[in-house]
Amino acid sequence: MRSKVVTIDRHIIDQERNYPDASGRFSALLYDLALAAKIISREVNMAGLIDILGQTGETNVQGERVQKLDVFAQEVIVKAMDHAGHLCCMVSEEHGEIIPIPDRFDIGNYVLLFDPLDGSSNINVNVSIGTIFSIHHRVTPKGGAGTLEDCLQPGYRQLAAGYVVYGSSTMLVYTTGAERGVHGFTLDPSIGEFLLSHRDIRIPDPPAKVYSVNEAYYARWSRGQQRLVDHFRGVNGEGQGGFKSRYIGSLVSDFHRTLLQGGIFMYPPDTKSPGGKLRVLYEAAPLAMICEAAGGRASDGSRNILDIVPEGLHDRTPLFLGSASLVDLAEEYLRNGSEG
Ligand code: AHG
Ligand code: MN
Ligand code: MN
Repeated sequence: MRSKVVTIDRHIIDQERNYPDASGRFSALLYDLALAAKIISREVNMAGLIDILGQTGETNVQGERVQKLDVFAQEVIVKAMDHAGHLCCMVSEEHGEIIPIPDRFDIGNYVLLFDPLDGSSNINVNVSIGTIFSIHHRVTPKGGAGTLEDCLQPGYRQLAAGYVVYGSSTMLVYTTGAERGVHGFTLDPSIGEFLLSHRDIRIPDPPAKVYSVNEAYYARWSRGQQRLVDHFRGVNGEGQGGFKSRYIGSLVSDFHRTLLQGGIFMYPPDTKSPGGKLRVLYEAAPLAMICEAAGGRASDGSRNILDIVPEGLHDRTPLFLGSASLVDLAEEYLRNGSEG
């Protein structure tokens, strides 16, 4: 029998009681997100049985083919979050512009930015996928519709960040900052509750010797990036090796493994994506907040992800995420470039 049964709702209430500055409004936001996650999880787990697989035939603002489940997840989150009066606007990977709160609903003081379904290329082959979310407080006067200024904030201002991984089990992991820790909840579908399963997650350091990167792009990387991966492989005189390579191709899954085991996840810049592929506002910044709150580091190769002030809703960045010692090593190799 597990020790104490703590639901995510109970955990949020306890956190609110222990940290009075976390206003009730904010906690209610997290409940609603947990509800959206349960609905998406149910559909993801049945995706093979209903006509929700495959592509819509459209391409999104990213120029990527839209999967039906991307659209479904996007709609579930917007419908779960737009009417409770917490938000002044939303930003989604699947929507080019800011998503306003409909006139018939109250306007709140928070901004929700999210990747409704991460790892879309893995949907049809039953490989785990996820949802990523980031919460900011608005910076423009209360009462009006949220603006770009409320959305284009640096990651260090985030109030909360989290992700859901729809894997062999569905887990929700979130943080409201390092002083309050990173906590993981596993969905018990038989009772429809997220139960606290991973209290106060800390990223292992010394880390597991695991690096995660799409090695098919090796030829497109900088010399420093190639030498870094040679170091992990123990080739070309760059080091002893001894590392394992793990790459799922769903950022949430690759990050979740890195958070629990240690290691480093990398999506470097390359000649095809010189600014990197992953998006600042709803992929890199929320995962960076979680990683740092768990004692790790998150860099774009030379500066902290959380210091990036995005100029556009869908700005991209290179991403190096994981155990501090390995992210430091990556920055050193990238700084040294081709010198030994
Ligand atoms: P999304 O499905 O939200 O567009 O994200 C896909 C991202 C991320 O999940 C993953 O790390 C990366 O794409 C994989 O890219 P490559 O296929 O180029 O390795
Ligand atoms: Mn994504
Ligand atoms: Mn996505």
